[in-house]
Amino acid sequence: MFRRIRSDIETVFENDPAARSRFEVIFTYSGLHALWAHRIAHAFFRKRLFTIARIISQISRFMTGIEIHPGARIGERFFIDHGMGVVIGETCEIGNDVVIYQGVTLGGTGKEKGKRHPTIGNNVVIGSGAKILGSFTVGDNCNVGSNAVVLREVPPNCTVVGNPGRIVKRNGERVSRLDHNQLPDPVVEMFREMQTQIDRLHQELELLKKQPVPGGEFKQ
Ligand SMILES: CC(C)(COP(=O)(O)OP(=O)(O)OC[C@H]1O[C@@H](n2cnc3c(N)ncnc32)[C@H](O)[C@@H]1OP(=O)(O)O)[C@@H](O)C(=O)NCCC(=O)NCCS
Repeated sequence: MFRRIRSDIETVFENDPAARSRFEVIFTYSGLHALWAHRIAHAFFRKRLFTIARIISQISRFMTGIEIHPGARIGERFFIDHGMGVVIGETCEIGNDVVIYQGVTLGGTGKEKGKRHPTIGNNVVIGSGAKILGSFTVGDNCNVGSNAVVLREVPPNCTVVGNPGRIVKRNGERVSRLDHNQLPDPVVEMFREMQTQIDRLHQELELLKKQPVPGGEFKQ
């Protein structure tokens, strides 16, 4: 247990240049407090003491502004910087060495049952305000830009930004915005749909032109 607590404190120093002393880290880092409370809540959750687990989680949320469902599974050296407004859902799984900032949501879309929250790989950074919604995986070594809204699986070693999230870097190389085998572009999809509809209307118009009109003549 003490080894883990020491590792948690070291993780703060590794990720936050503003951290000055162990005393300050232990008493003022709400991300750390939320993580420790979560470990206790998660232990109760695993023993099927769900209500006690939820109560601990809610007290922690009240104190830190960070809501971690007791069912969420979190790896080693997890760091929440600032933390206010972070929400982590019940079926979320988080790997090792993950850093998240304030306002991050690891949530569901409201359409799924069972496993409905994301799985986050190892060594992932999730920027402030980013939303990752659904039961897909964000691969190892990914960066999710602040305020990105990620709705699809992300392969390892990628940077995802924007709403909806699109991959802008893969294995350290810039990805072309016209690379359609990456995350879908809703604007392009909309244009494709419009083109299909225009083609269909054209066909219907041609057919109508060939219909006989009252009076017996063909309309031009
Ligand atoms: C995404 C991030 C991790 C950088 O990852 P990276 O792999 O080093 O990516 P780069 O900085 O090379 O940026 C790649 C492209 O994405 C763009 N980009 C980066 N972050 C972005 C964001 N949040 N939103 C939109 N575009 C973004 C860059 O402008 C760049 O675009 P370009 O190729 O047209 O120049 C970083 O920008 C970020 O958002 N970090 C979160 C930090 C944070 O939340 N801090 C809060 C402190 S309180």
